[in-house]
Amino acid sequence: MHKNKSNNELDSKLDAVSMSLRQSIKNLDSYTHVRGESLYVDDVNARQGTFHAVVFDSPKAHGKIKHIDYSKAEALEGVERIFTYKDVPGENEIGGIIKDEPLFAEKEVHFWGMPIALIVAESEFIARKARGLIDIDIEELPVITTAKQAKAKGSFINAPRSFSLGDSEKALEDCAYVFEGETFSNGQEHLYIESQGAYAEPLENGNIKITSSTQGPTAVQKTVANVLGVAMHKIEVDVTRLGGGFGGKEDQATPWAVMAALATYHLNQSVKLILNRHDDLRMTGKRHPYESTYKIGLSKDLKILAYEAEFLQNSGAAADLSPAIAERTLFHATNSYFVPNVTTTVISCKTNLPPNTAFRGFGGPQGMFVIESAIAKAASEIGVTSRQIQEANLLDENDTFSYGQIAKKVEAKNTWNSAKNTFNIEALENEVEDFNKNNNAFKKGIAFMPICFGISFTNTPMNHARALVHIYLDGSVGISTAAVEMGQGVNTKIMQIAAQVFSIPIEKIKIETTNTTRVANTSPSAASSTADLNGKATLMACNSLLERLKTVASEDLHVSEDSINLKDEFVYVNNKKTGLSWTELISKTMLKRVALTENAHYATPEIHFDKTKEKGHPFAYHVFGTAITTVTVDCTRGIYEFDSVKIVHDYGKSMSEGIDLGQVEGALAQGIGWMTMEEIAYNDEGRLLSNALSTYKIPDIFSVPKEVEVIPVETQGHELAILKSKAVGEPPLMYGIGAYFAIQNAIKAFNPNYDLKFHAPMTPEKVLMGLYQK
Ligand code: MTE
Ligand code: HPA
Ligand code: MOS
Repeated sequence: MHKNKSNNELDSKLDAVSMSLRQSIKNLDSYTHVRGESLYVDDVNARQGTFHAVVFDSPKAHGKIKHIDYSKAEALEGVERIFTYKDVPGENEIGGIIKDEPLFAEKEVHFWGMPIALIVAESEFIARKARGLIDIDIEELPVITTAKQAKAKGSFINAPRSFSLGDSEKALEDCAYVFEGETFSNGQEHLYIESQGAYAEPLENGNIKITSSTQGPTAVQKTVANVLGVAMHKIEVDVTRLGGGFGGKEDQATPWAVMAALATYHLNQSVKLILNRHDDLRMTGKRHPYESTYKIGLSKDLKILAYEAEFLQNSGAAADLSPAIAERTLFHATNSYFVPNVTTTVISCKTNLPPNTAFRGFGGPQGMFVIESAIAKAASEIGVTSRQIQEANLLDENDTFSYGQIAKKVEAKNTWNSAKNTFNIEALENEVEDFNKNNNAFKKGIAFMPICFGISFTNTPMNHARALVHIYLDGSVGISTAAVEMGQGVNTKIMQIAAQVFSIPIEKIKIETTNTTRVANTSPSAASSTADLNGKATLMACNSLLERLKTVASEDLHVSEDSINLKDEFVYVNNKKTGLSWTELISKTMLKRVALTENAHYATPEIHFDKTKEKGHPFAYHVFGTAITTVTVDCTRGIYEFDSVKIVHDYGKSMSEGIDLGQVEGALAQGIGWMTMEEIAYNDEGRLLSNALSTYKIPDIFSVPKEVEVIPVETQGHELAILKSKAVGEPPLMYGIGAYFAIQNAIKAFNPNYDLKFHAPMTPEKVLMGLYQK
């Protein structure tokens, strides 16, 4: 790359080229999706003789294993072998952040659904039948299912973390208003359409290839190597795409891949392990439920002067990603507001539930729900609207977050005001008021929900990626990165980058599978950062190749390099088309023995964080937005319908408008589901009751808002976002929090005695109780 060309110059060139692509691009996968041709793990062409595996898991949430009798299962015809912890040649350990999670239970079980053994048979049917023949005797121990119980018993994952800014204790003394209370937000099932699974096959010399439905191919590779006690280079992990991950496959795709690989290691035969829906629901962790307490202090003019919160995270039986998720709760505890005095603490509580894990928003939504609850409580007590308090405290340029980062390029007020104006808030509010005056059986409620979400892995060292770009002899291009396509459209975005840099049609570009032998040592596709990290690496690799091609063209045409550019598959000199085509240029480059392959490494600049001080600059940038949610509650039945959600969203300068809109709409529906209807239920023995779609309700076409309008805020974008197109995967989920408060406002309109409760999800049962509470 030419050192004298600034990135901005390159970016602005790309801007010009890309306008039409930005608007017209469709998700690459849409063609194979609608034809049913997209490949998932269960679609791999299994080798002849492939075995099928089923996991035998704990039928109790906590206890000592007294005895297990596998003899009847082993005797069943077609059963090849049953593997337990005794068959692990390396370490029986899969914990990523903390080594506290065995692959298979040894002497004790810690959650209902904890893997104990792997049954390998000629067919899944036989393996499943064999599972029913295993006898197990467990001496039961006391079961903890809630974070509060865990705290009372001193059952923790690690030490608590606290962030603080100013002096909240002192500030509270001077506040005109102080309110405190408690909140609960429940877990959430990922319900990716493709359940967890993996296919392992033996290669030569004890090498194993694994096809996995994982967001983190390197996590799988590393853990398999550790459990098998072999070098990482013996393990190859390949991912075509996921039928959804939503965080549920960042860490929790790993055990199934490890089990399949373990069986392949011993049997030297291919093994397929695909969880059916029931097994997946029972054995895997979910979004963390949080029980929290808060104290909020305001001045007479509604400025939040102090905020304190203690978050009890229900981590489940092992750490998994809980410490990182807890950290993000603290990062987002004040959402889109500036609060000068903050003390927040998060405690990861060890319970006897499946280890809870990453879920879109990664602890951020749980933190934001608490401050929104605190604001709603304060508003109700003071006798103002939540909107007045929210509006009085929106983040401004150069405000400080509790973690020390100075807010830059802040769009909080911009999106807020633009939502108010574009959607004519006065008219909307009058409509709601009029409706409520004239109706008794139905009431409407309206709520604002601003969001502010930090982009980057909060763990700074994870913010890197690589891209490997080949230009083939015929001018077609193959790109490998660490990005995992899970429906979010990252492959399309990466393809766009190459198409723009080379100025070739997208048909000439192929995005390869994500494979640890082509791109190694990667972070998972997560933190909404996949397109930024892998896209920037792709941009760098393509730009290096472009400069090389320009050198070849300049020599060939006897002109200076600076006069050359590529456009629509032809070489241009001083913006005039020459006869030299892209394909000919590639041949000439090859004849000159110039490399047509480039490997680039990108690491996010500027970010840092000091955990000993809990201060730093962890995020490349923040994404902002404001949603206005309107709901109609049926006051006889407690059911509700969302009239509309109107959003002004900070896309930066969206590089793929259709894909990004899809992300906003999908995340919104998922957020509304979490806040209003998805109700995870475990009984006191730790058994999952909401273990099927008949008992766990997710949003469907009838429950999504009747109208969703999303308008981009006018902004220049951010240089650290790929082509100034900001990360979009997680932030819009938090617009869904507005749904909770819109319903609450409708209940208040019906029942002035309603005592605000902050206990999500706001199911119709809870609505009814609120409507008729005395
Ligand atoms: N969209 C679809 N369709 N499927 C998914 O699994 N995962 C979400 C979000 N959007 C997901 C999705 C989550 S949790 C994250 S972190 C981001 O996509 C990951 O992709 P990105 O980094 O490319 O945004
Ligand atoms: N976000 C999402 N996933 C992660 C993170 C994060 O900040 N850190 C580790 N995994
Ligand atoms: Mo997303 S929860 O960071 O996979």
